[in-house]
Amino acid sequence: MSARKANSPSSPETLPAGWYASPEIYAAEREAIFRREWALIGREAEVAQPGDYLSDDIAGWPVFVLRGKDNQLRGFHNVCRHRAGPLVDPGAGRCSMLRCRYHGWVYDGEGALQRAPGLELGRDIKPCDFSLYRVRVECWNGLVFVCLDAQAPDVEEWLGDVVEIARDFPAIADLTFKRQTTMAGRANWKNYSDNSCEGYHVGFVHASLGKTVADEKIEIKPYENGRFVGFDVTYEASEADRSRHGRGFWIYKFPCLLLHFAEYSFNCEAVRPAGVSAVELKRWFWCDDDRAAELGVRAEDAIESAETVMAEDIGICEAVQRNLEAGIYETGRMAPTEEIGTIYFQTLVRDALEGKL
Ligand code: FES
Ligand SMILES: [Fe+2]
Repeated sequence: MSARKANSPSSPETLPAGWYASPEIYAAEREAIFRREWALIGREAEVAQPGDYLSDDIAGWPVFVLRGKDNQLRGFHNVCRHRAGPLVDPGAGRCSMLRCRYHGWVYDGEGALQRAPGLELGRDIKPCDFSLYRVRVECWNGLVFVCLDAQAPDVEEWLGDVVEIARDFPAIADLTFKRQTTMAGRANWKNYSDNSCEGYHVGFVHASLGKTVADEKIEIKPYENGRFVGFDVTYEASEADRSRHGRGFWIYKFPCLLLHFAEYSFNCEAVRPAGVSAVELKRWFWCDDDRAAELGVRAEDAIESAETVMAEDIGICEAVQRNLEAGIYETGRMAPTEEIGTIYFQTLVRDALEGKL
Protein backbone atom coordinates (compact mmCIF):
# COMPACT_ATOMS: atom_id res chain seq x y z
CA MET A 1 0.00 0.00 0.00
CA SER A 2 1.31 3.43 -0.89
CA ALA A 3 0.72 6.42 1.35
CA ARG A 4 0.81 8.86 -1.56
CA LYS A 5 -2.13 8.98 -3.88
CA ALA A 6 -2.49 11.30 -6.82
CA ASN A 7 -5.27 13.75 -6.04
CA SER A 8 -7.24 15.64 -8.61
CA PRO A 9 -6.72 19.32 -7.85
CA SER A 10 -10.41 20.08 -8.45
CA SER A 11 -11.91 17.33 -6.34
CA PRO A 12 -9.45 15.42 -4.16
CA GLU A 13 -9.83 11.72 -3.53
CA THR A 14 -10.59 10.50 0.00
CA LEU A 15 -8.35 8.15 1.92
CA PRO A 16 -9.13 4.55 0.90
CA ALA A 17 -11.78 2.73 2.95
CA GLY A 18 -9.18 0.16 4.00
CA TRP A 19 -7.28 2.83 5.94
CA TYR A 20 -10.18 3.02 8.38
CA ALA A 21 -10.27 -0.68 9.12
CA SER A 22 -6.73 -1.99 8.86
CA PRO A 23 -4.68 -3.15 11.88
CA GLU A 24 -1.50 -2.52 9.80
CA ILE A 25 -2.46 1.09 9.12
CA TYR A 26 -3.36 1.61 12.77
CA ALA A 27 -0.02 0.12 13.86
CA ALA A 28 1.78 2.48 11.46
CA GLU A 29 -0.23 5.45 12.76
CA ARG A 30 0.68 4.62 16.35
CA GLU A 31 4.37 4.83 15.46
CA ALA A 32 4.29 7.65 12.90
CA ILE A 33 1.66 9.86 14.53
CA PHE A 34 0.70 9.08 18.12
CA ARG A 35 4.20 8.31 19.34
CA ARG A 36 5.32 11.74 18.03
CA GLU A 37 2.49 14.16 18.78
CA TRP A 38 1.30 15.79 21.99
CA ALA A 39 -1.94 14.54 23.53
CA LEU A 40 -4.25 16.35 25.94
CA ILE A 41 -4.59 14.31 29.13
CA GLY A 42 -6.64 16.64 31.34
CA ARG A 43 -6.85 19.82 33.41
CA GLU A 44 -3.96 21.33 35.31
CA ALA A 45 -6.36 21.93 38.23
CA GLU A 46 -6.67 18.14 38.61
CA VAL A 47 -2.97 17.85 39.42
CA ALA A 48 -2.59 20.98 41.54
CA GLN A 49 -1.32 19.33 44.75
CA PRO A 50 1.66 17.04 45.39
CA GLY A 51 0.50 13.43 45.00
CA ASP A 52 -2.25 14.31 42.46
CA TYR A 53 -2.15 12.29 39.28
CA LEU A 54 -3.95 12.00 35.94
CA SER A 55 -3.83 8.72 34.12
CA ASP A 56 -5.12 7.70 30.70
CA ASP A 57 -4.54 5.60 27.64
CA ILE A 58 -3.07 7.44 24.66
CA ALA A 59 -3.59 5.31 21.55
CA GLY A 60 -2.66 2.17 23.46
CA TRP A 61 0.03 3.67 25.68
CA PRO A 62 -1.12 3.85 29.32
CA VAL A 63 0.52 6.95 30.79
CA PHE A 64 0.13 9.17 33.84
CA VAL A 65 1.35 12.51 35.12
CA LEU A 66 2.10 13.03 38.79
CA ARG A 67 2.71 16.18 40.84
CA GLY A 68 5.79 15.38 42.95
CA LYS A 69 6.52 16.48 46.52
CA ASP A 70 8.78 19.14 44.94
CA ASN A 71 5.70 20.45 43.08
CA GLN A 72 7.07 19.36 39.70
CA LEU A 73 4.78 17.67 37.21
CA ARG A 74 6.33 14.54 35.71
CA GLY A 75 5.02 12.07 33.19
CA PHE A 76 5.49 8.29 33.12
CA HIS A 77 4.29 5.22 31.31
CA ASN A 78 1.89 3.49 33.67
CA VAL A 79 3.99 0.33 33.40
CA CYS A 80 5.96 -1.21 36.26
CA ARG A 81 9.51 -2.34 35.47
CA HIS A 82 8.95 -5.69 37.23
CA ARG A 83 6.26 -7.46 35.20
CA ALA A 84 4.43 -4.53 33.60
CA GLY A 85 1.74 -3.99 36.23
CA PRO A 86 -0.05 -0.62 36.54
CA LEU A 87 1.11 1.99 39.05
CA VAL A 88 -2.10 4.03 39.24
CA ASP A 89 -5.74 3.57 38.30
CA PRO A 90 -7.20 5.31 35.22
CA GLY A 91 -8.50 8.86 35.70
CA ALA A 92 -7.68 11.54 38.23
CA GLY A 93 -6.57 10.56 41.71
CA ARG A 94 -4.13 11.06 44.50
CA CYS A 95 -1.44 8.79 45.91
CA SER A 96 0.96 9.28 48.79
CA MET A 97 3.21 6.52 47.45
CA LEU A 98 3.77 5.25 43.92
CA ARG A 99 3.29 1.53 44.53
CA CYS A 100 2.66 -1.00 41.79
CA ARG A 101 -0.77 -2.57 42.07
CA TYR A 102 0.51 -6.01 41.12
CA HIS A 103 3.33 -6.96 43.55
CA GLY A 104 4.03 -3.71 45.35
CA TRP A 105 7.28 -2.38 43.92
CA VAL A 106 7.62 1.20 45.13
CA TYR A 107 8.90 4.19 43.13
CA ASP A 108 9.51 7.78 44.17
CA GLY A 109 7.98 10.86 42.50
CA GLU A 110 10.81 10.92 39.99
CA GLY A 111 10.18 7.31 38.99
CA ALA A 112 13.24 5.88 40.77
CA LEU A 113 12.81 2.39 42.23
CA GLN A 114 12.84 2.50 46.03
CA ARG A 115 11.67 -0.95 47.14
CA ALA A 116 11.06 -4.32 45.54
CA PRO A 117 9.68 -6.89 48.00
CA GLY A 118 11.77 -10.08 47.96
CA LEU A 119 14.73 -8.44 46.22
CA GLU A 120 17.63 -6.58 47.73
CA LEU A 121 18.25 -3.45 45.74
CA GLY A 122 21.89 -3.04 44.85
CA ARG A 123 22.58 -6.75 45.31
CA ASP A 124 19.90 -8.49 43.19
CA ILE A 125 19.18 -5.64 40.79
CA LYS A 126 20.56 -2.16 40.20
CA PRO A 127 17.67 0.24 40.94
CA CYS A 128 18.89 2.72 38.31
CA ASP A 129 18.19 0.09 35.64
CA PHE A 130 14.56 -0.16 36.72
CA SER A 131 13.29 3.41 36.87
CA LEU A 132 9.85 4.08 35.40
CA TYR A 133 9.81 5.00 31.71
CA ARG A 134 9.36 8.74 31.35
CA VAL A 135 7.05 10.70 29.06
CA ARG A 136 7.15 14.44 28.52
CA VAL A 137 4.57 16.66 30.15
CA GLU A 138 3.86 20.35 29.52
CA CYS A 139 0.98 22.68 30.29
CA TRP A 140 -0.67 25.37 28.21
CA ASN A 141 -3.69 27.48 29.17
CA GLY A 142 -4.54 25.25 32.16
CA LEU A 143 -4.40 22.05 30.08
CA VAL A 144 -1.95 19.18 30.57
CA PHE A 145 -0.36 17.53 27.56
CA VAL A 146 1.87 14.48 27.29
CA CYS A 147 4.21 13.36 24.53
CA LEU A 148 6.19 10.17 24.07
CA ASP A 149 8.76 11.73 21.76
CA ALA A 150 11.79 13.35 23.37
CA GLN A 151 12.56 15.11 20.06
CA ALA A 152 9.14 16.71 19.58
CA PRO A 153 8.91 20.53 19.76
CA ASP A 154 7.55 21.97 23.00
CA VAL A 155 3.79 22.12 23.26
CA GLU A 156 3.42 25.82 22.38
CA GLU A 157 5.49 25.39 19.23
CA TRP A 158 3.38 22.33 18.43
CA LEU A 159 0.20 24.42 18.85
CA GLY A 160 1.61 27.08 16.50
CA ASP A 161 -0.97 29.75 15.57
CA VAL A 162 -3.45 28.31 18.10
CA VAL A 163 -1.57 30.22 20.81
CA GLU A 164 -2.15 33.53 19.04
CA ILE A 165 -5.81 32.81 18.29
CA ALA A 166 -6.41 31.91 21.95
CA ARG A 167 -5.31 35.42 23.01
CA ASP A 168 -8.57 36.83 21.57
CA PHE A 169 -10.64 34.74 23.98
CA PRO A 170 -10.87 34.28 27.76
CA ALA A 171 -8.17 32.07 29.28
CA ILE A 172 -9.22 29.03 31.30
CA ALA A 173 -8.00 30.82 34.43
CA ASP A 174 -10.76 33.42 33.90
CA LEU A 175 -13.52 30.83 33.45
CA THR A 176 -15.34 28.41 35.75
CA PHE A 177 -14.98 24.69 35.11
CA LYS A 178 -18.41 23.16 34.49
CA ARG A 179 -18.05 19.50 33.66
CA GLN A 180 -16.33 16.74 31.76
CA THR A 181 -18.16 14.39 29.41
CA THR A 182 -16.92 11.09 28.02
CA MET A 183 -18.46 9.36 25.02
CA ALA A 184 -17.31 6.37 23.01
CA GLY A 185 -18.00 5.31 19.46
CA ARG A 186 -17.37 2.38 17.16
CA ALA A 187 -15.44 4.36 14.57
CA ASN A 188 -11.86 4.75 13.45
CA TRP A 189 -10.29 7.95 14.82
CA LYS A 190 -9.82 9.37 11.29
CA ASN A 191 -13.49 8.88 10.55
CA TYR A 192 -14.32 11.13 13.53
CA SER A 193 -11.58 13.60 12.56
CA ASP A 194 -12.76 13.78 8.93
CA ASN A 195 -16.18 14.72 10.23
CA SER A 196 -14.80 17.26 12.71
CA CYS A 197 -12.85 19.09 10.00
CA GLU A 198 -15.85 20.11 7.88
CA GLY A 199 -19.16 21.88 8.31
CA TYR A 200 -20.60 20.29 5.15
CA HIS A 201 -22.65 17.81 7.19
CA VAL A 202 -24.09 20.27 9.71
CA GLY A 203 -27.43 20.94 8.05
CA PHE A 204 -28.06 17.20 7.64
CA VAL A 205 -26.67 15.65 10.83
CA HIS A 206 -27.35 18.43 13.33
CA ALA A 207 -30.97 19.23 12.66
CA SER A 208 -31.37 21.05 15.96
CA LEU A 209 -28.33 23.24 15.25
CA GLY A 210 -29.44 24.01 11.71
CA LYS A 211 -32.88 25.14 12.90
CA THR A 212 -31.95 27.22 15.87
CA VAL A 213 -28.80 29.11 14.94
CA ALA A 214 -30.46 32.21 13.59
CA ASP A 215 -27.52 33.67 11.77
CA GLU A 216 -24.08 32.21 11.35
CA LYS A 217 -21.04 33.35 9.44
CA ILE A 218 -18.21 30.93 9.06
CA GLU A 219 -14.75 30.89 7.54
CA ILE A 220 -12.89 27.58 7.43
CA LYS A 221 -9.22 27.31 6.57
CA PRO A 222 -6.16 25.18 7.21
CA TYR A 223 -3.28 26.62 9.23
CA GLU A 224 0.15 25.24 8.42
CA ASN A 225 1.77 26.69 11.55
CA GLY A 226 0.36 24.22 14.06
CA ARG A 227 -1.26 21.93 11.45
CA PHE A 228 -4.89 22.57 12.29
CA VAL A 229 -8.17 23.50 10.69
CA GLY A 230 -9.72 26.73 11.98
CA PHE A 231 -13.42 27.62 11.89
CA ASP A 232 -13.89 31.32 12.54
CA VAL A 233 -17.61 31.54 13.34
CA THR A 234 -19.96 34.35 14.32
CA TYR A 235 -23.34 33.43 15.79
CA GLU A 236 -26.42 35.47 16.40
CA ALA A 237 -28.49 34.14 19.32
CA SER A 238 -32.23 34.00 18.65
CA GLU A 239 -35.31 33.72 20.83
CA ALA A 240 -35.45 30.03 19.98
CA ASP A 241 -31.79 29.36 20.70
CA ARG A 242 -29.76 30.94 23.45
CA SER A 243 -26.92 28.40 23.28
CA ARG A 244 -24.50 30.48 21.14
CA HIS A 245 -23.73 34.08 20.45
CA GLY A 246 -20.91 36.22 19.15
CA ARG A 247 -17.57 35.18 17.76
CA GLY A 248 -16.26 31.70 18.28
CA PHE A 249 -13.20 29.92 16.99
CA TRP A 250 -13.29 26.16 16.51
CA ILE A 251 -10.10 24.29 15.93
CA TYR A 252 -9.34 20.74 14.87
CA LYS A 253 -5.67 20.30 15.67
CA PHE A 254 -3.85 17.38 14.11
CA PRO A 255 -4.02 14.64 15.08
CA CYS A 256 -6.59 14.44 17.85
CA LEU A 257 -7.54 17.68 19.60
CA LEU A 258 -10.58 19.93 19.36
CA LEU A 259 -10.56 23.42 20.88
CA HIS A 260 -13.65 25.63 20.94
CA PHE A 261 -13.11 29.23 21.97
CA ALA A 262 -16.01 31.63 22.55
CA GLU A 263 -16.36 35.10 24.04
CA TYR A 264 -17.86 33.61 27.23
CA SER A 265 -16.68 29.97 27.28
CA PHE A 266 -14.13 27.40 26.28
CA ASN A 267 -14.39 23.69 25.70
CA CYS A 268 -11.96 21.17 24.35
CA GLU A 269 -12.11 17.56 23.31
CA ALA A 270 -9.46 14.86 23.30
CA VAL A 271 -10.13 12.33 20.54
CA ARG A 272 -8.61 9.07 21.75
CA PRO A 273 -8.03 6.26 19.29
CA ALA A 274 -8.96 3.06 21.11
CA GLY A 275 -8.07 0.48 18.47
CA VAL A 276 -8.75 0.27 14.75
CA SER A 277 -12.50 0.81 14.97
CA ALA A 278 -13.01 2.50 18.32
CA VAL A 279 -12.70 6.02 19.53
CA GLU A 280 -13.20 7.65 22.91
CA LEU A 281 -14.04 11.33 23.26
CA LYS A 282 -13.34 13.36 26.36
CA ARG A 283 -14.64 16.88 26.51
CA TRP A 284 -14.19 19.56 29.17
CA PHE A 285 -16.39 22.66 29.49
CA TRP A 286 -15.65 26.04 31.08
CA CYS A 287 -17.85 29.14 31.13
CA ASP A 288 -18.06 32.70 32.41
CA ASP A 289 -21.71 32.73 33.51
CA ASP A 290 -21.90 36.50 33.96
CA ARG A 291 -20.45 37.23 30.54
CA ALA A 292 -22.71 34.59 28.98
CA ALA A 293 -25.77 36.16 30.65
CA GLU A 294 -24.74 39.62 29.37
CA LEU A 295 -24.70 38.20 25.84
CA GLY A 296 -28.04 36.46 26.32
CA VAL A 297 -26.51 32.98 26.33
CA ARG A 298 -27.51 30.26 28.81
CA ALA A 299 -24.36 28.33 29.73
CA GLU A 300 -26.25 25.11 30.44
CA ASP A 301 -27.94 25.31 27.03
CA ALA A 302 -24.52 25.76 25.40
CA ILE A 303 -23.16 22.63 27.09
CA GLU A 304 -26.25 20.54 26.38
CA SER A 305 -26.22 21.63 22.76
CA ALA A 306 -22.53 20.72 22.42
CA GLU A 307 -23.21 17.28 23.93
CA THR A 308 -26.12 16.69 21.56
CA VAL A 309 -23.94 17.66 18.60
CA MET A 310 -21.20 15.32 19.83
CA ALA A 311 -23.65 12.39 20.09
CA GLU A 312 -25.01 13.16 16.60
CA ASP A 313 -21.45 13.18 15.24
CA ILE A 314 -20.69 9.82 16.84
CA GLY A 315 -23.93 8.43 15.39
CA ILE A 316 -23.08 9.40 11.81
CA CYS A 317 -19.46 8.26 12.19
CA GLU A 318 -20.59 4.83 13.42
CA ALA A 319 -22.87 4.49 10.40
CA VAL A 320 -20.00 5.55 8.09
CA GLN A 321 -17.66 3.07 9.83
CA ARG A 322 -20.06 0.18 9.12
CA ASN A 323 -20.18 1.23 5.47
CA LEU A 324 -16.40 1.64 5.20
CA GLU A 325 -16.02 -1.91 6.51
CA ALA A 326 -18.82 -3.41 4.38
CA GLY A 327 -16.55 -3.94 1.38
CA ILE A 328 -18.38 -2.01 -1.36
CA TYR A 329 -17.01 1.55 -1.07
CA GLU A 330 -13.35 2.13 -1.90
CA THR A 331 -12.76 5.88 -2.28
CA GLY A 332 -14.84 8.98 -2.94
CA ARG A 333 -14.19 12.57 -4.00
CA MET A 334 -14.45 15.66 -1.82
CA ALA A 335 -15.91 19.12 -2.38
CA PRO A 336 -12.89 21.42 -2.67
CA THR A 337 -14.27 24.34 -0.64
CA GLU A 338 -16.80 22.73 1.68
CA GLU A 339 -14.38 19.99 2.70
CA ILE A 340 -11.16 21.99 2.66
CA GLY A 341 -10.49 21.03 6.30
CA THR A 342 -10.96 17.29 5.73
CA ILE A 343 -8.82 17.48 2.58
CA TYR A 344 -6.05 19.14 4.62
CA PHE A 345 -6.38 16.66 7.48
CA GLN A 346 -6.15 13.67 5.12
CA THR A 347 -3.05 15.22 3.53
CA LEU A 348 -1.43 15.34 6.98
CA VAL A 349 -2.27 11.66 7.52
CA ARG A 350 -0.83 10.71 4.13
CA ASP A 351 2.31 12.78 4.82
CA ALA A 352 2.81 11.16 8.23
CA LEU A 353 2.52 7.67 6.77
CA GLU A 354 4.56 8.30 3.64
CA GLY A 355 7.25 5.67 3.34
CA LYS A 356 5.93 3.82 6.43
CA LEU A 357 3.59 1.35 4.70
S1 FES B 1 4.49 -5.85 38.08
FE1 FES B 1 4.87 -4.22 39.40
S2 FES B 1 5.49 -5.14 41.22
FE2 FES B 1 5.17 -6.79 39.89
FE1 LIG C 1 -20.82 17.60 13.44
